[in-house]
Amino acid sequence: MHKIELLAKTHDRDGFDCGSEPLNLFLKLTARQHAERGISRTFVLVNEAAAAPKPIIGFFSVNICQIKSESLTAQEAKKLPRDVAGVRLGRLAVAKTYQRQGIGKILLVAAMGKFIKIFNTAGGIGLFVDAKDQETKRYYDQFGFIAMPSNELELFLPVKTIQEALKAHS
Ligand SMILES: CC(C)(COP(=O)(O)OP(=O)(O)OC[C@H]1O[C@@H](n2cnc3c(N)ncnc32)[C@H](O)[C@@H]1OP(=O)(O)O)[C@@H](O)C(=O)NCCC(=O)NCCS
Repeated sequence: MHKIELLAKTHDRDGFDCGSEPLNLFLKLTARQHAERGISRTFVLVNEAAAAPKPIIGFFSVNICQIKSESLTAQEAKKLPRDVAGVRLGRLAVAKTYQRQGIGKILLVAAMGKFIKIFNTAGGIGLFVDAKDQETKRYYDQFGFIAMPSNELELFLPVKTIQEALKAHS
């Protein structure tokens, strides 16, 4: 049975390999420091029954962000103040041996759930992500992310889309 947990010392960060060294290094060296300093939070997917150090199947990081509404499409920017808040999905990665098995989708749905908790407490217009290339952009496209007019690799998932996705998923 899979479980999403806040990254902790009991997780095997060193054994994680998603094929992208910057993402591996972030998990190993930076993620816990960022959590301690309030910069971002990292959540990992593990097998509930695994013994510590628990192998990490995948992870994502989220942080609060502020954006200018003028950077959104005219349709999305309508009736918004100049500065708005959202949640940035800073990182998303799945261990090589688990890729293409729907784990990325499980993590993305969990990140949407984290966004909704923040939305219910303090607001926020949606989830933001910087896709590293066109292939990654295509991955996010399938979940309804919209490209920002100024940069097609900067993507936005509006709160309405998130609420509908979570409804369909429950
Ligand atoms: C990108 C990543 C998170 C996707 O996770 P995943 O668990 O492999 O993806 P899923 O199984 O949820 O994918 C579902 C569908 O998305 C599509 N897809 C999967 N990986 C994709 C990729 N890299 N690019 C484009 N589409 C992709 C496929 O259509 C897939 O369905 P299929 O297997 O039937 O073809 C994962 O491959 C990964 O960690 N890659 C290395 C790190 C990385 O690039 N992270 C993105 C940071 S911006």
